[in-house]
Amino acid sequence: MSRPSVAQPADLDVVRDSYDRVADTYVDMVATTSLGDIRLMPWHRAAMDVFADAVRGLGPVLDVGCGPGTVTAYLAERGLDVSGVDLSPRMIEHARRLHPECTFSVGSSTDLDLAEGSWGGIVGWWSLFNLPRLVLPQVLSSFARALVPGGQLIIGTHVGNGDLVRTEAYGGVPVRWTTHLWQPDQLVALVEQAGLQPTAELRLPADGQIGPGVILVAKA
Ligand SMILES: C[S@@+](CC[C@H](N)C(=O)[O-])C[C@H]1O[C@@H](n2cnc3c(N)ncnc32)[C@H](O)[C@@H]1O
Repeated sequence: MSRPSVAQPADLDVVRDSYDRVADTYVDMVATTSLGDIRLMPWHRAAMDVFADAVRGLGPVLDVGCGPGTVTAYLAERGLDVSGVDLSPRMIEHARRLHPECTFSVGSSTDLDLAEGSWGGIVGWWSLFNLPRLVLPQVLSSFARALVPGGQLIIGTHVGNGDLVRTEAYGGVPVRWTTHLWQPDQLVALVEQAGLQPTAELRLPADGQIGPGVILVAKA
């Protein structure tokens, strides 16, 4: 049976090129600051620890938009059968170099071949905010279909209203992408519409370094 299609974002190629361009700087940031390293962000880590416990034994876990694989490796250390996928080949080069024990592939969240009812957990860790507003619900539905009964989705993303057109990121690297901001309640509604049951929501106020965020967990 063919899988229901997800619309491909018109800006996918420029978003890919942009993340290829920032990948080296992003990896430096994770290595040299507390930003982006889940081990150094206690509330992020706590949420991921609960997720790891919840999905253990349910099936494989996919880290979608894994970047350089920091979260993928964190979950692998916790004994999970986890792999990562990212739009940016350069991010995946870094992930493979930094975490050779994990499996990574290049691909878009909008074009994943996810067999129905086959994944114990799916992670979308600050990696879904570039998806156009009409595409994110389709991607969430594809995640919902892919999870086993009781399987868990954890997403983290930027909170706010409207869209930010970015022309530079991570210390001045030129990029072209749009950050779509979401209110937590809007995301909860999307997750429910996708057929998932929200189980937890952690709101993270701006802390001077990064803007407000939310972590949402839902189960199939
Ligand atoms: C802010 S980084 C976060 C990376 C990683 N999740 C982390 O926490 O370090 C956003 C990532 O999302 C990826 N990304 C953006 N759009 C994507 C898409 N359509 N499919 C897969 N990955 C995507 C980017 O390439 C980038 O690696």
